[in-house]
Amino acid sequence: MAVSVNQILRWKQTGAPAQPIAVLTAWDVISARIVDQAGADIVLVGDSLAMVALGYDTTLPLTLEDMLICAKAVRRGVTNALLVVDLPFLSYQASLEDAIRAAGCMLKEAGAQAVKLEGGHEAVVDTVHRLVQWGIPVMGHVGLTPQSVNQFGGFRKQGKTTADRDRILAEAQALEQAGAFAIVLEHIPTELARDITKALKIPTIGIGAGIHCDGQVLVTADVLGLSDWQPPFVKVYANLKQQSVKAAQEFCRDVRSGQYPA
Ligand code: KIV
Repeated sequence: MAVSVNQILRWKQTGAPAQPIAVLTAWDVISARIVDQAGADIVLVGDSLAMVALGYDTTLPLTLEDMLICAKAVRRGVTNALLVVDLPFLSYQASLEDAIRAAGCMLKEAGAQAVKLEGGHEAVVDTVHRLVQWGIPVMGHVGLTPQSVNQFGGFRKQGKTTADRDRILAEAQALEQAGAFAIVLEHIPTELARDITKALKIPTIGIGAGIHCDGQVLVTADVLGLSDWQPPFVKVYANLKQQSVKAAQEFCRDVRSGQYPA
């Protein structure tokens, strides 16, 4: 049976299933079929696709239109997992109307079941509250929020000082209060992720946040060894970039030597 938002929530609240939630990203129908058929509980159309699939240095240039095209393609490849779509930078920050329109089009046009928003300050929390009131499930995201890369001065680990740790915990709690059904904890100390996971009734999904989260997410291009660089916390499970270059080289060689077509 297809995974639902309620099921994800129940898993934490009833302790079933006993194993952590597995989340992977997708950016097109091929990556979507791979991660859905692999049995991921949640497929995230993360705005990391700006870097992974579109070649930008950060997630900031991604537009709502770019995201909509990718989310629709992913939808066509997902049958079992819960489909969550990131709202791109500045598609939801300027006004509540923007946020409702951006989130609404991901549900109405792309068939997403939930959206993800970055940050946990007051304005984001208010937006999450309103979206949830309008029937749009929201996943939160705190810690290293890549849309704030310029403020952080790079993709740096967050929560290193006591004040930062207290702020991130308070943000996660505020997002839960606002009605978020799950929260991504990115690149924060293991103990902070453990404390947040203990403090919340909704599941935490860690990325570079240690072993105590209720689930884990990674960018699929990193997992498959398709990207040229991976963050230090990533486990690379395959070497598809190298294998693909080799296969393409063999094709070129065969064409040039007359071996293909036979
Ligand atoms: O954009 C993304 O892929 C994400 C995950 C890494 C959590 O937000």
